[in-house]
Amino acid sequence: MPRVAYVNGRYVPHRDAAVHVEDRGHQFADAAYEMLMVIDGGLLDFAPHMERLHRSLGALSIAPPMSDSAVRVVIHELLRRNRLKNASIYIQVSRGVAPRDHAFPQTRTPPGLVMVARRMDYALIARRQSQGVSVITLAETRWARPDIKSTSLLANVLAKQEARDAGAYEALFVDADGMITEGTASNIWMVAADGTLVTRALDQSILAGITRQAVLSVTAARQMALEERPFSRAELKDAAEVFLTSSTNFVMPVTEVDGQKIGAGKNIGKPGPVTNSVIEAHREHVQKETT
Ligand code: PDD
Repeated sequence: MPRVAYVNGRYVPHRDAAVHVEDRGHQFADAAYEMLMVIDGGLLDFAPHMERLHRSLGALSIAPPMSDSAVRVVIHELLRRNRLKNASIYIQVSRGVAPRDHAFPQTRTPPGLVMVARRMDYALIARRQSQGVSVITLAETRWARPDIKSTSLLANVLAKQEARDAGAYEALFVDADGMITEGTASNIWMVAADGTLVTRALDQSILAGITRQAVLSVTAARQMALEERPFSRAELKDAAEVFLTSSTNFVMPVTEVDGQKIGAGKNIGKPGPVTNSVIEAHREHVQKETT
């Protein structure tokens, strides 16, 4: 079956889907992106993803290339042409094509827009959720604005590869104060001994995850205790439970940090009961949103 991508107004075969050599996204990572999930043909959290895209573009002074409803039309067309019902949708908006110069182009250039649909295997995620994943921690090496979902991801790429080389699933960044910021492509949570959920409050050092927000609202609805505050690597390793959240992982138990198993007693190194109830609560949100 042919794969089709969307590139600047055209649906093109995936193998030929390319941007210009002077696209500023390509040369400078002068671009923002979103990644959202489609489940059984339903778009998960479309509105908050578009709101965040507008915030990122606003921070970069890039004009939105089309309306949100037009983006939705392109997504459905991509799904139709690729015959997909379960997919991830990658949306990237760059400052467009201009002769290389660090400053913004002086003449108005239209923003570049590419979208790619890719088959998602949700059964694989569910299997991973039942086992849990391991993470490593690394010094924060990213630029000072990870709250903008820009394509400047080199530090994330290198950290993720370090995780892979260490046999781990994800790498978490630790800031200069010894506090965990977030993962290379995920937000991080711990469960304290009394069952309280703890996650870092939103600031410029982390991305405002859409899954993070969904988990905040479904756990608030279930009256689960929550603290939004930074926590250290030592506190994380001592936590009763740990999990991460992202569009591509939903709620994923973390069972090992830097080679040390998380939890105690019969739950050691296994997804814990609080995490499992967060997974369940988030699944209900996904169902409601996509049907
Ligand atoms: N990444 N933090 C970072 C640095 C991320 O890249 C992501 C998501 C998140 C979680 O955000 P959300 O819940 O909105 O997916 C947190 C996407 C999945 C990616 O880069 O592919």
